[in-house]
Amino acid sequence: MTQVIHEIAALREALNEHRLNRQSIGFVPTMGNLHAGHMDLMRACVQRCDISVASIFVNPMQFGPNEDFDAYPRTLDADLAQLSSQGVDYLFAPTVREIYPDGVNTQIEVPSLSNILEGASRPGHFTGVATVVAKLFNIVQSDVAFFGRKDYQQLAVIRRMVSDLLLPVEIQGVPTGRDADGVALSSRNSYLSQDERQTAPVIYQALRWAAEQITSGNLDYGQIERSGREHIDQGGLKTDYFEIRCAQNLTAPGHSQKSLVILTAAQLGKARLIDNIEVTAP
Ligand code: PAJ
Repeated sequence: MTQVIHEIAALREALNEHRLNRQSIGFVPTMGNLHAGHMDLMRACVQRCDISVASIFVNPMQFGPNEDFDAYPRTLDADLAQLSSQGVDYLFAPTVREIYPDGVNTQIEVPSLSNILEGASRPGHFTGVATVVAKLFNIVQSDVAFFGRKDYQQLAVIRRMVSDLLLPVEIQGVPTGRDADGVALSSRNSYLSQDERQTAPVIYQALRWAAEQITSGNLDYGQIERSGREHIDQGGLKTDYFEIRCAQNLTAPGHSQKSLVILTAAQLGKARLIDNIEVTAP
């Protein structure tokens, strides 16, 4: 049974006991509405660590004023059932007051990674993510924390924050969980109508096509980006970006750079969908 804890002090007390027993602690931060992609992270955590902690906190600071903070699905009972069946030991589910007792003042910014791609369309988003994740790290103080590669830029921001601030936590990336038709699992897929869900696979198809172009030696990245974008737009979506970047720091790659990632975001009805694929150039 997963034990639910709402308060920082109570969680710290419970985890201190485990630390005294020299048990390793793993942490998976989420915003809830858990799906099979989240459960891949939980499985990795339970397998690797003695004690696993998940958090569910819909973080107001990472939502823009016109974004879906109020509409974001909150499904605590169903989430708890999944965590229990996966063997997660603790669920930390704080209130907004618990995490922001005095509002927002000190903030964590990772400017080199926060203002491009997702960050260009969602100003302040990654500052909200980095700030809340730093707070959660300070609360849980886990040995390892697990993040999905689905949110590739977020993972890069967290890795850079941990390295810049010398935080004593290891970050483990977990591969993207997908439906059978390739669509990356996301809580925001629930905003799609049946018709929209039928068109969503075009995103991963475009990414796979672009990755194949690179592995087969096409060096004209600008042309691959334009074609990828057209492919998604022709599927009836509105592409925000479709970019080939350096896997490590998300800058534009030269042809000597081999480790690449192709990142895309597109609007489909009410949902903003993001996806990416990692690729090694020959
Ligand atoms: P959320 O969107 O709930 O995602 C929680 C974690 O699950 C993130 O690390 C995300 O990358 C991972 N995840 C989501 N969909 C996935 C998929 N299809 N395959 C693999 N992993 C997947 O990301 C957040 O919450 C928040 O920004 C958070 C980090 C909790 C800070 O508020």
